[in-house]
Amino acid sequence: MQGTDPLVQIQNLDVSYYTKGVQAKALHNIGMEILPGERLGLVGESGCGKSTLLKTIMGVLPPNGKVNRGSIEMDGRNLIEMDEKLRRQTRWAEISMITQSALNALNPVQRIDRQIIEAIRTHQAMSKEQAAERVSELFGMVGVDPARARDYPHQFSGGMRQRAVIAMALALSPQLIIADEPTTALDVIVQDQIFSRLRQLQQDRGFAMILVTHDIALVVENCQKICVMYAGMIIEAGNTRDIIQKPRHPYTIGLINAVSVLGSVTAPIAIPGSPPNLFENLEGCRFAPRCPFASALCHQKIPEPTTLENGQKVLCHHWSKADEFSKLAKSPETWMQSTTATT
Ligand SMILES: Nc1ncnc2c1ncn2[C@@H]1O[C@H](COP(=O)(O)OP(=O)(O)OP(=O)(O)O)[C@@H](O)[C@H]1O
Ligand SMILES: [Mg+2]
Repeated sequence: MQGTDPLVQIQNLDVSYYTKGVQAKALHNIGMEILPGERLGLVGESGCGKSTLLKTIMGVLPPNGKVNRGSIEMDGRNLIEMDEKLRRQTRWAEISMITQSALNALNPVQRIDRQIIEAIRTHQAMSKEQAAERVSELFGMVGVDPARARDYPHQFSGGMRQRAVIAMALALSPQLIIADEPTTALDVIVQDQIFSRLRQLQQDRGFAMILVTHDIALVVENCQKICVMYAGMIIEAGNTRDIIQKPRHPYTIGLINAVSVLGSVTAPIAIPGSPPNLFENLEGCRFAPRCPFASALCHQKIPEPTTLENGQKVLCHHWSKADEFSKLAKSPETWMQSTTATT
């Protein structure tokens, strides 16, 4: 895919939340790009900033969230500096979002078809009849009987509601769909059905997709690229296959070992400890306090990003020792030592 211009390019992005005057640095120096039609998975523990990053891209940060630095370029425009009126036009038409809870996205007292028709007509000059036809078409695409389009959200099962939200996200044929844990609230069978449908739609229609999930196995099944986040930073990124076969960051190694089939370990090994408090001033590598391989340097200095020959990016002082780390990391004792060493 070399030579393809990115659809979205994010550079040096810093985002903070302010609560009673106290700053939590939720995103630090985020850089990433999404190519047209690419499926990118964003993984990392709870609180690492995945939703914040998606909300920043979508332009829907809460009032206490602020972009302090950086740019998000799309079609030659910087979304961060765009005025709110133009920005609003990009939402749903160019970038749309599927969130974890379909219930939050749908208005409970309005029929589903009306909600989608309104969303379409806010952006496009279309008659009600044309928009209604489009809704039927969209329902067909996501696998819900179009005859049900006039139902209220509560008449739908959880899976159907999530499909309706996907229909809404597709309504204006955006170039980028961002999905924040789109199936977390659903059972595994429905989750599989929805993902295979999303994958098929993505291939047919060619939109790019960012999928956020805790479940790295879902990313392996569904995405060509992975970005791994830790405490507000992207610590490793690259082609899914490369990252799973040769993770270069100890945190990624740990995440993979936490899923036994991926890590080829006999039992999953959880990473002990928890991420740092983002309200504190953090020095050095943010993973160092939990990292079994951290040296004195790691506690003092944030590593510079390194790009390997295959395009894989890693933020670790000791990435060149990753093969050795990977072997050691298969033993649960390795991880136990790290917590005793730092607590
Ligand atoms: N509105 C807010 N005000 C203050 N802090 C917030 C707000 N929203 C999120 N945060 C903080 O920002 C950090 C990143 O949160 P975010 O929701 O982006 O993480 P996440 O990776 O999506 O987590 P999860 O996997 O639990 O959804 C967390 O420390 C969180 O507590
Ligand atoms: Mg989240």
